[in-house]
This record gives sequence, structure tokens and C-alpha cells, in this order.
Amino acid sequence: MSDDPEREVWQSRLGLIFAMAGNAVGLGNFLRFPVQAASNGGGAFMIPYFVAFLLLGIPMMWVEWSIGRYGGKKGHGTTPGIFFHLWDHPAAKYIGVLGIALPAAFAVYYSFIQSWTLAYSYFSLSGSYFGITSQEEMMLFLSSYQGVTTSQFFNGLGSAYVFFIINLLVVTWVLARGIVRGIETLAKFAMPLLFIFALVLVVRVFTLGAPDPTHPEQSVMAGFAFIWNPDFSQLTNGSVWLAAAGQIFFSLGIGIGSMQTYASYLRAKEDIALTGLTTSMSNGFAEVVLGSSIAIPVAVAFFGISATQAIANGGSYDLGFASMPLIFQRLPLGQVFGTLWFGLLFIAGITSTVALTQTTMAFLQDEMNWTRIKAALTVGAVLFLGGNFVLFYYVHGVVNEFDFWVGTVGLVVFSTVEVIIYGWIFGMENAWKEITEGAAIHIPRIFFYIIKYVTPALLIILLGIWVWQAGLDIFLLRNANPDDLPFLWAARALICSLVVIGVILVAVVSKRWQRSPVAQSSL
Ligand code: ALA
Repeated sequence: MSDDPEREVWQSRLGLIFAMAGNAVGLGNFLRFPVQAASNGGGAFMIPYFVAFLLLGIPMMWVEWSIGRYGGKKGHGTTPGIFFHLWDHPAAKYIGVLGIALPAAFAVYYSFIQSWTLAYSYFSLSGSYFGITSQEEMMLFLSSYQGVTTSQFFNGLGSAYVFFIINLLVVTWVLARGIVRGIETLAKFAMPLLFIFALVLVVRVFTLGAPDPTHPEQSVMAGFAFIWNPDFSQLTNGSVWLAAAGQIFFSLGIGIGSMQTYASYLRAKEDIALTGLTTSMSNGFAEVVLGSSIAIPVAVAFFGISATQAIANGGSYDLGFASMPLIFQRLPLGQVFGTLWFGLLFIAGITSTVALTQTTMAFLQDEMNWTRIKAALTVGAVLFLGGNFVLFYYVHGVVNEFDFWVGTVGLVVFSTVEVIIYGWIFGMENAWKEITEGAAIHIPRIFFYIIKYVTPALLIILLGIWVWQAGLDIFLLRNANPDDLPFLWAARALICSLVVIGVILVAVVSKRWQRSPVAQSSL
């Protein structure tokens, strides 16, 4: 645990809210959400989405904030040390390793995608893709940028590499400046800017009407109707529920480890009830109001509903990277709107990437007493090495492999373990005391029971269905292209090696940890 009596704390409440919102609001809100909503039936998706928000999202947010604040009081910013105090069992600290390995693996592929947004901001500003008028050509632009193919636009990974490195340097620089001067300052500028960019784009979308006179049925309003008309017939479709719950986890950033780390920089009795709720609401607003009001309505207005669904089914990022640039070209001041869109994505991405990487920073600083600079350089090196792997082997599907194990299954597995340790082993009475301590609002008592019974039960059901549905096929990569197999197994090995490194480090550093009387008496 940290020997530093001056362990950093968030400087202002506003800075904390912006930083936490920056942690949550990310590419998930603006790229992943529209694609999930469109490919899961639009209005059919929204009911399970809100149910998952209420029964999984908000409770888990309070759980993670209070776990983090509890850890911070004991000098631990990451879950190995925190679980050690929550559960008097030799396995606890090793289970907590997931809370450092998952965000590290997440950051590796997430920051790579974020580097595309930086590149596309530049391409929009410079008008590089202007003149490309078909979806196919725009896909070619994207896939040759990613090195999947070559084209007249990109012949190799040179451009992608340059933006990858610039992005990496910016992230490392922010981390090196620390919690207050780095992350909080970034968030105070970036988050208002993100909301301004998004509002400008939303206003522009609302004024589009029906841009194609030959297809008056293709309009912005048809796009909104597609998202917002509830389709109750789909409520019995299990995969829509799974997709909605998965989106809540990804987008709120639950089960990754980064919320706990940010919360560990709270003051001992600082409110978490209201600020945690505010963060969840801001994330929901960014996603449901802003995220859903940009990509889908414009895509429907220009391409129609079925084409929009087809594009969404094609991949998580196609709507944002391959369709939006086509649309910007048809708008007056398209270069400006393109830059705003990809600039917004970059801001959303970087504020989440620094949160994902701050967990490793916290571990190195708190548990190994490393200086901030040394820790930041190490994180930069990990991102560099891992990033090279995902960049060069993107063509073999390694990003999807990371996204499945880390960004989909990993989050739910870790949340399940966490809520069981907190609500059942640490004890719900203790957990409730932590959650409500210093609360600026009254949390209805029903959440005591939701956290204890409903959230863990839903998580276990969710995991059970996944294993049932995907099971051995995914585990054994039965449907994968044989050429990709070595790379997909290498991606898995990389994720596992992060866990193994974490276990070894925890075994070494935990020798000097001591349980506090408070934790022991609660067992
Ligand atoms: N919560 C982050 C996002 O939505 C990871 O992108």
C-alpha cells in the first residue's frame, strides 16, 4: 500500500464529476451504442437498456465508487489491495488482479481505436476523404488505413503508425502529470468541449430534414422513430437483453477496474451517492440523448433504415468511420462538421483511455512506490508493445478477440465476483454503510436488496446464457478463419500474460500488506 502521505485527491467537485464522466463517456457512447441499438432493432433495444441501467448500471456504479473510496482510505487504488481488505482469504488479492489486468488489456486495443479518431479528425480537417462518394470506397479508405488491404489511399500502415505514436505520447504525457494536473485538468477542458461539439452536431442533425428529395421517407425523424418507437414484441428475445446489458457495462465502464481507481482519490467522507448517480446520468445523457441523435438519424436520413441496419451489422465502427464521412461531404461546411465529429470521438476516447491506464499507474505508485514519471513511462511502454501487436495483426481479428474477452465477458465476470465479495462476504450491512457514508442524497433502501440479490442474480444469469449460447464454439475458435488462429491464440496469451504478471507482482508486494481491524471484524 502507498507510503505516500500525500496520496493525491481530486481537487474540486466539478473536476471530479468531469473526470468520472470522462472515464465513463467514451467511444462506447458514440460509436458502439448506435451500432448496438440499430442492429438490435432500434426501439426494441431501449427497454432492456433502461432496465439494465437501473438494475445493473446504477447499483454497480455505487458499488465500485464505494469500493474505490474504501480502498483509497487504506492506501490502495486498485482491487488486489482493496479485495485483500474486503475478504480475509488468500485468494482475494489474486482475484483482484483482474481489476488491473483487464483495464491494461482494454487500454491496449481501445487506445488503438482512439488513434483512428485522431487520424480521421486530421483527414476531415484536411479534406483527405472528400471526393469519395460511395460506401464501398469509404470502407476501402478505412480498411487500407487499418492495413487490412492496400488501396490508392493507403499503401501500408505508415499513417496508422504515426497517429498511434502521437496518441500514445499524449496519453503518457497526461498520466505523467498526475491526477490533478493531468487527468482533472484534461477533463475540465475536454468534457465541456465534448458536450459543445455533440450539441452542435445534434442541432445540425435536427435541421437536416429529408435531404434526398427522391426518398422523402428517408428523414431524420424516421431515424428518431426507428430508435424511439418501442417494439414490445422483441422483449422475449434474449439476445437483445444480452446486448443491452453488455452495452451498459461497456459504456458506464463498470467491471473494468478504472472506476474504483478514480474513486480511490476521493476524500474519506466525500459523497458518492449523488456524484455516482450524476456520473451515470451524464453517461446516459451522452449516450441516449447525444449518441443516439447523431449517427443513426443522419444515416437513416441519407441511406434509409434497412441500409443503416446493414451497415451497423457490418461492424462496430463502420457507422462512425465509413458512413459519417460520406454524409459530411454532402453538408455545407462538411470539413468542419467532420472535424467536430471525430474530434468529439477523440476527446471521448482519450478521457477513457487515461482512466483505463490510471489503474496500472495506481498499482505501480501505491504498491511499488514508483514515481509518477517512472510509472507513466512504464504504462507508455506497455501500450507501445501491446499496441504494436494489435496494429500489425488487426487484419487477423485480434481487436475483436480482445473486445470479446476483455470488453464483453471480462467486465461481466469481474462485476459478478466483485458484487458477491462486496455484498455477501464483506457483508451488505458494511457495504451499505460505505455506500451511504457522506451521501448528499437519500438512496432508497430498495437498492440494498437490489445490490444484494438482484444485481448478482442477473449477472449470473447473463453469464450462464453466454456460456450456453456461445460455449465451446467461441472458446475453441471453431468458426474462426484458420489463417487467423495463431494470432487469436496469441491475443489470448497476451491477455493471460497480463494476468500472470499481475499475480506475480501481487504475490511480491502483498507481503507487507496488513489487514485493518475494521475489515476483520466484518467477516
Ligand atoms: N466506458 C468507456 C466507453 O464507453 C470504455 O467507451
